Amino acid sequence: MARDAGMKRIILLGATGSIGASTLDVVRTHRDEFRIVAASALRSRARCEAIAAEFGARAYIGENAALRAVEENDADICLVATVGASGIAPTLAAIAKGMDIALATKEVMVMAGELATRKARERGVRFLPVDSEHSAIFQCMGGDVHAQGVARLILTASGGPFIDSPADLSRVSVAEALNHPRWKMGPKVTIDSSTMMNKGFEVLEARWLFDVDTSRIDVVVHPESIVHSLVTFADGATLAQLSPPDMRVAIQYALSAPRRLASERESLDLASLGALTFRRPDETRFPCLRLVKEAAARGGCATAVLAAADEWAVAAFLDGRIAYTDIARCVERSLEAAPHFACESVDAVFEAARWTTAFLSTGGQAR
Ligand SMILES: NC(=O)c1ccc[n+]([C@@H]2O[C@H](COP(=O)([O-])OP(=O)(O)OC[C@H]3O[C@@H](n4cnc5c(N)ncnc54)[C@H](OP(=O)(O)O)[C@@H]3O)[C@@H](O)[C@H]2O)c1
Repeated sequence: MARDAGMKRIILLGATGSIGASTLDVVRTHRDEFRIVAASALRSRARCEAIAAEFGARAYIGENAALRAVEENDADICLVATVGASGIAPTLAAIAKGMDIALATKEVMVMAGELATRKARERGVRFLPVDSEHSAIFQCMGGDVHAQGVARLILTASGGPFIDSPADLSRVSVAEALNHPRWKMGPKVTIDSSTMMNKGFEVLEARWLFDVDTSRIDVVVHPESIVHSLVTFADGATLAQLSPPDMRVAIQYALSAPRRLASERESLDLASLGALTFRRPDETRFPCLRLVKEAAARGGCATAVLAAADEWAVAAFLDGRIAYTDIARCVERSLEAAPHFACESVDAVFEAARWTTAFLSTGGQAR
């Protein structure tokens, strides 16, 4: 197919998921701006083929589909919206081919942020944040992840179901932990939201996306989830981004930045919102926030150890094998016991993850 000048070609990885659907909506509204050239899914064959037919794209389905979609197509932007570590290899392949990366899959930065951002710098490609907090920061920076004069980043967090009670978190049941007050999400991310590990992952994502040390990234609890995040600049000014919670705002900006495209979406009615509230998170109650910063300070693949330990521990909690408060304990013990893994290659990242799973599977947290 001939290439239209100015039209951005997009490879959409994870096209059949929630972010994929929102991306397709954005493209439908702006067919003169964006074209999907390839779409991938893991299992949803019929849905992926329907997407390909609607958008004149190639469909890729299966275990290695995301990687093949990148290897067999050229595009301006690769939008990565698969789940977990599966996003790492296709992201690195897209960088090697010179594509900008619109990133939804935070594990790419949590587990391989140092490697991925180094490769992107060497190849001269951009990371375009899709996660709503990181999009907010990106928007406050005027669409430049390396904006000048940034003093601090402030990520907002809804706080999850256990922000104030119960006093004793060790007795929290699986059903209670899965009952998020604001969003319906998959079980892993719901538990991660309740322990605030998910916010910790976002701190790491911000660390690499914006090249800001974790000591200059704050988390503030904001239960209304209207302010998506903020940036404090060197002159003391703080800019915030506010919008109704709709991932299409963030996705559209990732694809168009620094331009803003029109949309029919509703904007905020501030007077009807009334008050917006903010407070500090309690790191004693939510030790995962502290562990994330400790892992970042250790360097190498320590954050891959952190992510793998959390994955193992959340699964064990959901299976009834460990208590809720053991999730953070598993992560802490793994970080203490892990050898230093230099983060030189994607193999090193997966080796660190495998070491962690083996450590916890053989009772490491109790040693
Ligand atoms: N949803 C949100 O609002 C949101 C916000 C910020 C960040 N994120 C992040 O964005 C990513 C996508 O989220 P989502 O909510 O769109 O997830 P989702 O609804 O579960 O969709 C995941 C997509 O990835 C595919 N997929 C799943 N496992 C895969 C694997 N191992 N290898 C390759 N493809 C795989 C799925 O294909 P099948 O349909 O065939 O299973 C589907 O197309 C996640 O990392 C999430 O944390 C999501």
